[in-house]
Amino acid sequence: MNPTIDIEVQAHNFATDMQAALASASKQISPKYFYDAKGSLLFDQICELPEYYPTRTEWAVLEQYAPQMAECLGADIDLIEFGAGSLRKVRLLLDALMAQKTPPKSYVPIDISGAHLAESSLQLQKQYPALGVTTWVSDYSQALVLPPALMQANRRRMGFFPGSSLGNFAPGEALAFMTQAAQMLGGGGLLVGVDLVKDPQVLHAAYNDQQGITAAFNLNLLARANRELGADFDLNAFAHYAFYEPRHQRIEMHLQSLRAQHVRLLGQTYSFREGETLHTENSYKYTLDSLHQLAKQAGFEVGIHWTDSQQQFCVQWLIAP
Ligand code: AVI
Repeated sequence: MNPTIDIEVQAHNFATDMQAALASASKQISPKYFYDAKGSLLFDQICELPEYYPTRTEWAVLEQYAPQMAECLGADIDLIEFGAGSLRKVRLLLDALMAQKTPPKSYVPIDISGAHLAESSLQLQKQYPALGVTTWVSDYSQALVLPPALMQANRRRMGFFPGSSLGNFAPGEALAFMTQAAQMLGGGGLLVGVDLVKDPQVLHAAYNDQQGITAAFNLNLLARANRELGADFDLNAFAHYAFYEPRHQRIEMHLQSLRAQHVRLLGQTYSFREGETLHTENSYKYTLDSLHQLAKQAGFEVGIHWTDSQQQFCVQWLIAP
């Protein structure tokens, strides 16, 4: 998708999804709207926080086992990254693939945030001048669509889906995504990173950091609605609220209204009761069992997995028959 069209489509979807969320008795919106340029930068800051263990733990697992992962990926592949963001982690795979003399034929980072993706891929291209990089701005949570040239190339396609972004899908969405991925990657495979179920206190701290970066990330959704949709959210009248919900094994993030209030958005008025929330994100945590069940149901064969010594995070290799 062309970035300009993408921005227009996204703005339209953000408007309609925000209107639907605010009009609903139980207000909820997709976390994909966190990632405008500001939100993407805030997310990069979250990844550096001492409390937010997933990024550094996954990094350590990738760093340690990238040579084994590169062996699974093999030679003459197209490497497709979903939710690519700042393109840091893939460098570990690229270096390992190059070290074993099997550089990918092409690398296709897919992300919803066009501006962020363009900037990151420029940096990557400088570091790997021989690598064919095709950026693809797309909402992979809706439908998995690849650039036509890649579909025609008829090479083995390997997916890379790090960062536990799978955890931001509801179970039905996760199954739909994985099923599409298994079909699209047929003959190849998928390396997926997932955050594992663990001590709720560790989880709570990761989403309630001391510096308030996660709160700013959450509240940026309202700031974005003010910027892009002319809404009049008072950012001081909402608070970041995140907690672990053990029944669904997920972190829930909400924006909680600190008083009864009205908000204007695109010509309509919506009301919030004191304490009412706009549910902005779920972050599901997996067990190895629940991940394997999902993968098999989606049509993958379960391969080897790698984890850290505390079993906080797992990178799983899945074969797409
Ligand atoms: C992108 N995703 C995996 C992050 C997560 O942990 O669910 C988003 C995030 N939300 C708050 N902190 C980080």
